Amino acid sequence: MVFYRCVYFIFFLTVSAKFVWKHHNNDELPLVLEEVHEKCPNITRIYALSEPSVQNVPLYVIEFTEMPGFHQPYKPEVKYIGNIHGNEVLGRELLLGLADYLCEQYLNNDPNIRALIHKTRIHLLPSMNPDGWQLSTSFGGQDYLIGRGNNHSVDLNRNFPDLDAITFEYERLGINHNNHLLKDVTRLAAPLEPETRAVMRWIMSIPFVLSAAMHGGDLVANYPYDESKSGALASEYSASPDDDTFRELAMTYATAHADMASASRPGCHINSHDDTASYNFGKQGGVTNGAAWYSLKGGMQDFNYLATNAFEITLELGCKKYPLENELENEWHRNREALLAYLWKAHIGIKGIVSDDTGFLENAIISIVNITGPNPKPIRHDVTTGTYGDYYRLLTPGRYEVTASHVGHYPAQRIVTVPQRQSAARILNFKLEPIRYADGALFFDPPFVRYPHFIGEQPRIYKRSLYEKVTNSILESKETPKE
Ligand SMILES: *[C@@H]1O[C@H](CO)[C@@H](O)[C@H](O)[C@H]1NC(C)=O
Ligand SMILES: *[C@@H]1O[C@H](CO)[C@@H](O)[C@H](O)[C@H]1NC(C)=O
Ligand SMILES: *[C@@H]1O[C@H](CO)[C@@H](O)[C@H](O)[C@H]1NC(C)=O
Ligand SMILES: [Zn+2]
Repeated sequence: MVFYRCVYFIFFLTVSAKFVWKHHNNDELPLVLEEVHEKCPNITRIYALSEPSVQNVPLYVIEFTEMPGFHQPYKPEVKYIGNIHGNEVLGRELLLGLADYLCEQYLNNDPNIRALIHKTRIHLLPSMNPDGWQLSTSFGGQDYLIGRGNNHSVDLNRNFPDLDAITFEYERLGINHNNHLLKDVTRLAAPLEPETRAVMRWIMSIPFVLSAAMHGGDLVANYPYDESKSGALASEYSASPDDDTFRELAMTYATAHADMASASRPGCHINSHDDTASYNFGKQGGVTNGAAWYSLKGGMQDFNYLATNAFEITLELGCKKYPLENELENEWHRNREALLAYLWKAHIGIKGIVSDDTGFLENAIISIVNITGPNPKPIRHDVTTGTYGDYYRLLTPGRYEVTASHVGHYPAQRIVTVPQRQSAARILNFKLEPIRYADGALFFDPPFVRYPHFIGEQPRIYKRSLYEKVTNSILESKETPKE
């Protein structure tokens, strides 16, 4: 009897630790993450975002890296977000499966996965909208709209501050201020939902470099901008300054996927009378610019790019929003290489540390001029350095002039060639010289770093302290801030 029980117990343990392809409900989701963490305690950490969903379900994240819980210089941070629309569920299960796979392959000494986890910090949020998932699932999962929004029926992918409007306005006015635009928001179109606030805080507290959000209902990798510049509702290509890099990121996913990029596959909505849905994206390599498909305001993708240093794309993972349980494992095999290839993209371009004699320089600005062709072309989207003075600048192969600048220092420039087929970013460090007066005193806050046209003399250089203060005031006010 004792023997019998013991065997039963071991059997139970083994079975419970084996990942099963199924639709995991909101109670099972953290248990899967917990099992992965128990198998791989040294390279994983589970945490919840700063606030739960409307129905009080925590938004769980699992991170993979060799020093969980800490940002390390030279180590880019990447995230995947699933299930932002509650009735689009494949991403949620793929991320649970990916968590299990990363752990298992790490333990099996898979050299590719070991290298990835050694060099990268990866965060997986399987469900951003657990309440929508619950509603959709209770209704059988097959409705095109039920469960799309959160429990306030708000579409979370329309709920982010509209920074596109700000960047388009600056573009029209010729103001060269093109990053970390959240502090320029004066008014929100709608109150922020708890899920949105939680994700915004997350996006801004971790120095993400690369990201993808997962949807369903079509099969395509969609890249910024999602919002058109003229206000056109559809079919207007809306290029960001990093259009070339974003296309490359989207194509990486599409071409590594089983058939996202296949020209011979059928489109998702062959019988649809809805023009915005009738594309066959396979015929264009499995990628699309967001607004060239249809325009949307308040999306998470453009918010990432315009509020932080992160480059985010949107993955539509299949025609079915809520695939059947017995289709999930096959979908995993169709997506696995794409999921891994995309994570490696955090290592393209250049990275480095900006410092001076006294130490790391936080909030230094890295700006890029593309000198690949005969005419030098600035890429009007700067990135900034983090706490360790570290920056990550995703770029496609080519030649670039890189400038590092920081308040009170002489800017420095270097030329770099980004080679084809990178598995590691080129390292380009900068040591800046402080500006001194003739008497040796340090030069503070030089006027040339301020905007000429700005009311209230807003500094050109993004200051984390100021930025955090504004962000927090937007996030903390339950009311829509007024001008
Ligand atoms: C975790 O690290 C400890 C200390 O280095 C080591 O003894 C242990 O075997 C590791 N565990 C796993 C599952 O790799
Ligand atoms: C909110 O959640 C409750 C509890 O699950 C559910 O009964 C209700 O229908 C949901 N409302 C919406 C609008 O999703
Ligand atoms: C840099 O310029 C070359 C030549 O004009 C162009 O083909 C390439 O797409 C540009 N790269 C980026 C990252 O914009
Ligand atoms: Zn969606």
